[in-house]
Order: sequence, then C-alpha cells, then structure tokens
Amino acid sequence: MWVHERLRETDPGLRERRAQLKQRIAGSISSGEASRVAEELVTIPTVVHVVHRTDEENVSHEQVASQLEVLNRDFRAQNEDAKNVPEVWGGLVADAKIQFELVTEDPQGDATNGIVRTETDQESFSPDGDPVKSTESGGAAPWPTDRYLNIWVCNLAEGLLGYAQFPGGPPESDGVVIRHSAFGTVGSAAEPFNLGRTCTHEVGHYLNLFHIWGDSDDCSGSDEVSDTPSAQAPNYGKPEFPHVSCNNAPNGDMYTNYMDYSDDAAMFMFTPGQVTRMNATLAAERVALAKPV
Ligand code: ARG
Ligand code: ZN
Ligand code: CA
Repeated sequence: MWVHERLRETDPGLRERRAQLKQRIAGSISSGEASRVAEELVTIPTVVHVVHRTDEENVSHEQVASQLEVLNRDFRAQNEDAKNVPEVWGGLVADAKIQFELVTEDPQGDATNGIVRTETDQESFSPDGDPVKSTESGGAAPWPTDRYLNIWVCNLAEGLLGYAQFPGGPPESDGVVIRHSAFGTVGSAAEPFNLGRTCTHEVGHYLNLFHIWGDSDDCSGSDEVSDTPSAQAPNYGKPEFPHVSCNNAPNGDMYTNYMDYSDDAAMFMFTPGQVTRMNATLAAERVALAKPV
C-alpha cells in the first residue's frame, strides 16, 4: 500500500486510470460479464527474474517450480489445506480459474526456461523506487509487462516478504517482488513463510485485490468485495476461530483468506467475490496477459 501511495503521488495518470478501472469492474459485475469471464480457464505466461548476490538468493529451478505449483493449486482451489477453512466459510472457497506457466519463449522468440538470472552487488532491495526492476540499480528489467507476469526474486530490505503493483500503474514496474526466503516451498524458503503464499497474496494484489481489512484501522476501509467480512486490522500467525472485529460477529474476520496477513499455513482461500474481481480485472485491464486455455 505504501508503494501504491507513492505511485499515486509520482504518476499523474494513475488516479484517473484506477478510477476508470473501478467503473469498468463495477459495470462488468452488474452486467454479469464478470461472472461469465470468471468461468473460463486462462493461463498467465510467467517469467521469474532471480536477482542474486549470495548462493542462497540464487534460488534453484526446483524452488521456482515449487512456487509455480503453489500458484497453480491456490488459484484453482486445489490446495489440500483448504479443508482447514472453518465450516462457516466452506461454501466460499472459490476456484479462480487462473493458471500460471513459466514461458518457453522469450520476447525475441528464443527458447528459455522462463527463469532469468542476474548477479547483483546489492545486499538488499528496497521497495522505494523499485531498484530490483532495472539494470542500472543492480536489478533486472522486466519483459513486456502487457504480455508477461514478471516475478522478481531477491533479498528485500527490512522485514518485507513481498510487494506488488496494482493494475493501472506504470508498465515499466508492473509485476510482483518476493523475498527469496518466502518464495516456493524448498531451498531457501523459511518457516513460517515457506508454503509459497506470499506470491499467492502478491499476485492477488497484482490482479487488483485489496487486503480484506480494507487498509484502515477503524473499520472504515473496504476491500470492495462483498462476500469478505469487514475486518479492523490484519491477523498474524495462526489465528483461532472466531476473531471478531468490526461488527462481524459471530464468524469474525476471514483470517483464512490469502489477502490477510496470517502465516502461510493458515491461509487457504479466495472467495467468489474476489475471483470475480480478479477475472473482471483481467478482462478489463490485463487483456493481453490472459491466454484462453
Ligand atoms: N506484503 C506482505 C508482507 O511483506 C505479504 C504478506 C504475505 N503473508 C504471508 N503469510 N505469506 O508482509
Ligand atoms: Zn498485501
Ligand atoms: Ca469485504
């Protein structure tokens, strides 16, 4: 959200583009178009930029593949652990009908395994100014962001696990960034963020989902999704059912949602409302990205 605020200040067109997108999504939801597109399975071509200084940061092909597997399970509601969702929300576990594929052709048409490795002398990357996304600052430039989901894996400054850019932002910084130790399920992935859910969460933002507590601390914020309960603040760790806030008794906060801040082992679901919003966004704003299956 901090990156989003900064972009709102520095990119003069962003507010207007976001306002238009909001209208188009609302239109698509009320006309039923959004539910229709949410029925269709799409594939998002994905490239992973591994920006490394240490061996640990130079994550293996296996670690990258493990993250892709998580994305493909989580966005198809095929994750085993969805059975841990409290019964009251069982009916709200939704299949987003989105899958992810490491690309086999680069923008020039040459063969690739979808992983680009760049050595850096940077100890860590700050989200401020997106240094990981350009060569001049020790990072790696994205592949055309209208056609590829760009994922950067690196060491992030402070305790940040990952961050994303919402749709409508500057093309040259579009994509998601994940700390290597919160990426995938093997190799340098470290507990309690070693189940690949940071990337699931950030791709949720990339497809226009907000945090389920609406990023305020007084119940005034909203995630603009009607089937996620209002909540006052993020939940951390492994919460116990129910955690009540913001007049949401008896079931309380949906801390099992990927868009909360619970541990990887405690988040298991997107709701139908979130699924509709992501697919409406793909249809409205990230058109060249989603390939019909
Ligand atoms: N941007 C958030 C952070 O860096 C991501 C939190 C993801 N949560 C998780 N359990 N993986 O804190
Ligand atoms: Zn977030
Ligand atoms: Ca909501």
